[in-house]
Amino acid sequence: MSDIKVYVLEPSGEKNAVEAPTDMGLSLMEVLKASDYPIAATCGGMALCATCRVEVISDHELLPPSDDEGYMLDSLPVVSDTSRLSCQIRLNPDLDGLVVKLAPID
Ligand code: FES
Repeated sequence: MSDIKVYVLEPSGEKNAVEAPTDMGLSLMEVLKASDYPIAATCGGMALCATCRVEVISDHELLPPSDDEGYMLDSLPVVSDTSRLSCQIRLNPDLDGLVVKLAPID
């Protein structure tokens, strides 16, 4: 059993579960897009467009941002300590129960 559940906190306050496999090397962005969340991901997951950014709500220990992700986050007008690029979050069993909020679409 290698599927995990991640949760998307909707603006309404509702949490929706998204099932995600961890044995395919998918990123959180790919899974959210496949679940029809409105993520443009115009750079295709290269940490260049920031349209995939999320706020991490749960207290999961994520790997620190790579240099590329860090530069991109630093260049955004509004970020917080919990902002991440979902294309740079590789799904693994430790992320079961992760809760994220999608950044508002600009
Ligand atoms: S998809 Fe472009 S930064 Fe994540």
